[in-house]
Amino acid sequence: MYKILAKEELAPRIKKMWVEAPRVARQAKPGHFIIIRLHERGERIPLTIADMDPERGAIMMVFQEMGKTTEELGSYRVGDALADVLGPLGKIVPPRRVGTVLCVGGGVGVAPIYPRARELCQVGNRVVAVVGSRCKDLLIMQKEMEEACHEVHYCTDDGSFGHHGLVTDLLPQLIELERPAEVLAIGPVPMMRAVAQVTRQYNVPTIVSLNAMMVDGTGMCGACRVTVGGEVRFTCVDGPEFDGHQVDFAQLASRLRQFAEEERLALQRYHERKEGCQCQTNG
Ligand SMILES: Cc1cc2nc3c(=O)[nH]c(=O)nc-3n(C[C@H](O)[C@H](O)[C@H](O)COP(=O)(O)OP(=O)(O)OC[C@H]3O[C@@H](n4cnc5c(N)ncnc54)[C@H](O)[C@@H]3O)c2cc1C
Ligand code: FES
Repeated sequence: MYKILAKEELAPRIKKMWVEAPRVARQAKPGHFIIIRLHERGERIPLTIADMDPERGAIMMVFQEMGKTTEELGSYRVGDALADVLGPLGKIVPPRRVGTVLCVGGGVGVAPIYPRARELCQVGNRVVAVVGSRCKDLLIMQKEMEEACHEVHYCTDDGSFGHHGLVTDLLPQLIELERPAEVLAIGPVPMMRAVAQVTRQYNVPTIVSLNAMMVDGTGMCGACRVTVGGEVRFTCVDGPEFDGHQVDFAQLASRLRQFAEEERLALQRYHERKEGCQCQTNG
C-alpha cells in the first residue's frame, strides 16, 4: 500500500498529494508518469510525477477532479493509502542544452511542465514560461514556476490575471523576441494543438505531452494508441512526449471522447453511493 503523506488543495477541484513510493521516487525523472489504482475494485488512471523526493521516498501528484476516480482520489486523506502505484513509466528524453526553451502550460498541465522547466534550466537553458488558465483562482504552482524559470507570463481566459486571452496570443511576440530553440507544451488537447499550429509557422520544434486514454501502461492493450507522423505509436511506451507538428490531434480528441457516456454514468453511480452512505450515517 502507498500511504498519502500530505495533501493540499491548490485551486477548486485541483489537488496536490505526496505519496510514499520509495522505489518509484528513487527512479523517477521529470517527464515520467505513474498508473495508480485507489483500491481493489478501482480503475487504473495515469498521472504525471510532478515532483520526487528520493530521500523521503515520496512522489508528488497534482490532479484535477475530472470524473469518478479523480474525484474519489480527492476525497482521500493524509494517512489513507493507494492500492497500486505502477511506475515510473514513459520514455524519457534527457534534457539538452539548446539555448532558449519556451514552456507553455495550460490548466493542470502546469504541474508536469514544472519539473521539466526546472531541469531544462539546470542544464543551462534560458527558460521562459507561458502559463494559462480559465481564471486567476485556477492558476496553480505560480511560486514554483517563478523559481524554476527565468521569466513567467500569465494568461487567463476571463482577464482576471495577466494577459486577457489564450496562451497562443502571446506566442508570436515571444517567439520573435526570444528566438526559442524549442517549445514544450503541456495542457488540454485543444491548447497543445493550437500551440503546434503557431510554432509550425515559425519552424520551432515543439514537444507536446499526450494525455491519451491508458489501461495497462505496458504497450500491450493498445488503448493509448495515437498517430504521429502517419504511424501508430503507443503513448505509454513511446511517449507521452511527441513531436507536436506530427501528432494527429483530431484523432486523439475523438478517442478521448469515446467513453463519455460510461464516464458520466460511473460518476453518477459514485455520487449516488456516496449520498447513500451519508444518509445511512445521518439516519
Ligand atoms: C501520461 C498521462 C499523464 C497524466 N497526468 C495527469 C496529471 O498529472 N494530472 C491530471 O489531473 N490528469 C492527468 N492525466 C489525465 C488523467 O489520467 C485523467 O484525468 C483521469 O484518468 C480521469 O479519470 P476519472 O475517472 O476521474 O474521469 P473520467 O470521467 O473517467 O474521465 C474524464 C476524462 O479523463 C480522461 N480519462 C479517463 N480515463 C482515463 C485513463 N484511464 N487514462 C487516461 N485518460 C483518461 C478522458 O479524457 C475522459 O474524458 C494524465 C493522463 C496521461 C495519459
Ligand atoms: S496503455 Fe495499454 S498500450 Fe499503452
